[in-house]
Amino acid sequence: ANLIINASISRPIPETLFGIFFEEINHAGAGGIWAELVSNRGFEAGGQNTPSNIAPWSIIGDQSSLNVSTDRSSCFERNKVALQMDVLCDSKGSNICPAGGVGIYNPGFWGMNIEQGKVYKVVLFVRSLGSINVSVSLTSSDGSKMLATANILDSDVSNWTKVEVLLEATGTNPNSRLQLTTSRKGVIWFDQVSAMPVDTYKGHGFRNELIEMLDDIKPQFIRFPGGCFIEALDPGRRDPGTLVMFGCIGLMMDLDTFEFLQLAEDLGSRPIWVFNNGISHQDQVDTTAVLPFVQEALDGLEFARGDSNSKWGSVRAAMGHPEPFDLKYVAVGNEDCGKKNYRGNYLKFYNAIRSAYPDIKIISNCDGSSRPLDHPADYYDFHIYTSASNLFSMTHQFDRTSRTGPKAFVSEYAVTGKDAGTGSLLAALAEAGFLIGLEKNSDIVEMASYAPLFVNVNDRRWNPDAIVFNSSTHYGTPSYWVQKLFRESSGANLLDSKLQTNSSTLVASAITWQNSDGKTYLKIKIVNFGNSKVNLKVSIDGLGLSSQLSESTKTVLTSSNLMDENSFSDPKKVVPAQTLVENADKDMDLVLTPYSVTSFDLLT
Ligand code: AHR
Repeated sequence: ANLIINASISRPIPETLFGIFFEEINHAGAGGIWAELVSNRGFEAGGQNTPSNIAPWSIIGDQSSLNVSTDRSSCFERNKVALQMDVLCDSKGSNICPAGGVGIYNPGFWGMNIEQGKVYKVVLFVRSLGSINVSVSLTSSDGSKMLATANILDSDVSNWTKVEVLLEATGTNPNSRLQLTTSRKGVIWFDQVSAMPVDTYKGHGFRNELIEMLDDIKPQFIRFPGGCFIEALDPGRRDPGTLVMFGCIGLMMDLDTFEFLQLAEDLGSRPIWVFNNGISHQDQVDTTAVLPFVQEALDGLEFARGDSNSKWGSVRAAMGHPEPFDLKYVAVGNEDCGKKNYRGNYLKFYNAIRSAYPDIKIISNCDGSSRPLDHPADYYDFHIYTSASNLFSMTHQFDRTSRTGPKAFVSEYAVTGKDAGTGSLLAALAEAGFLIGLEKNSDIVEMASYAPLFVNVNDRRWNPDAIVFNSSTHYGTPSYWVQKLFRESSGANLLDSKLQTNSSTLVASAITWQNSDGKTYLKIKIVNFGNSKVNLKVSIDGLGLSSQLSESTKTVLTSSNLMDENSFSDPKKVVPAQTLVENADKDMDLVLTPYSVTSFDLLT
């Protein structure tokens, strides 16, 4: 096969091309990127009525020493449920408390990861009719080993009182728990108990190592919070303070719009906020009644972009971000095109947002690649989950799409089903082929993101995913590593390239990109989706290559078996391997490994 690159014919790839889609699925957020260690910190997993569900909180002690219940006495008007602990035993007298006291413990999201030398901040609200002496401790999963402890001693907490303690861990245990215990008789109420490591990503509450994985692929945008997550949000029935959803995923607390906008800013990514448009998996609000939803979107936009004197901008400023966030993209709904009220509801959103914020780009759910949209939009959404061979052949999906009209946002793509395993090389190779097609069609495809991004292995609801984690460790699937191979594409220059081959299992592209020192590299990416090695003659015209060979590299993602995956025990089984290119030249004979994606980065 021959690959002929003509660098004198080129065009810029949009800055926005490759980004990420964060959705609260698989406990990606709560118990995932959000570093809160306590699960169900408001004791409201059962909703706002009592008795509510306090799980996974459990009780230390028996019925002779304490009673635990929920009531609606919280100081938080929108989260009224509090936990009441009626301690019957004491440190003296006839009913002596067991050693270590009685109380409650929280195992976090499948175990809290506590690390020696790290500091954890516990914040809780407490109230009692008498004085209290409560131990706040981080312990091993059965409570037998103390990792950190402090006492809350207070003579007057007759009104709800916020208490903060810092705990420095003296040991490491990825399966720890938080305990609140006492040996003093009396009634104590607790609410909104939080425990977080002090060290989070840029101090903004996110788990460092998971966000560094994102930082490493240089996402140009972050679409949030869903996905079908947003199809379940019903402002009329939403539980206060939480985004409770049904159907597809779970529960998200604490991590909300402000945090996502902050995360986007910290990653240098453009936020793309997906709004519920009055359509969920079960219900559709009639277009005549959709205005409250539109107003909620407008309020949200004012929260993100309004100046700090505006009603909602002042709320953002009070949260610590006086400057507006750089929000320029919104999507109306998720996978709702074709539903009875979509077009009508969409138009209400479109007209209101366009008139209030003319610079905001608006994304429709309707696929405009096969026929023109019957409504105005800046982008149309395109989702594809399919087999490896289908996705690989979709490298040509946008070749014949109309070049006029709204641009494409491929906001969800992945190989799924048996080809994917739980993150196979096969899936990743097909995705690489598809991405090369998107690069080549980036005159009309301006954004693309893999889905879903994260999975907590203890709650795998959607498979496969790009990044797998538990409380303490994580790894990228081969699909994640493919995204890293494409991180230089956004904003690069796409060069004219022609592949001469009879094979249908070979695709390639060529770009030039600049590193942070201003050095320009020619990057050639080739996917060999076939089971034989390929001899490829590359010829490069219109571009000089440097003789600084030590700065030219070849990176290959492959493995001995197509279904190979990474795992906690072997996290680097299928990762890109980089070597120096010794023979970089304008004419090169290359050998491509069977089932591989290869990236050559040649200094020009
Ligand atoms: O990414 C997983 C789900 O797939 C998304 O929530 C939804 O948009 C799609 O159906």
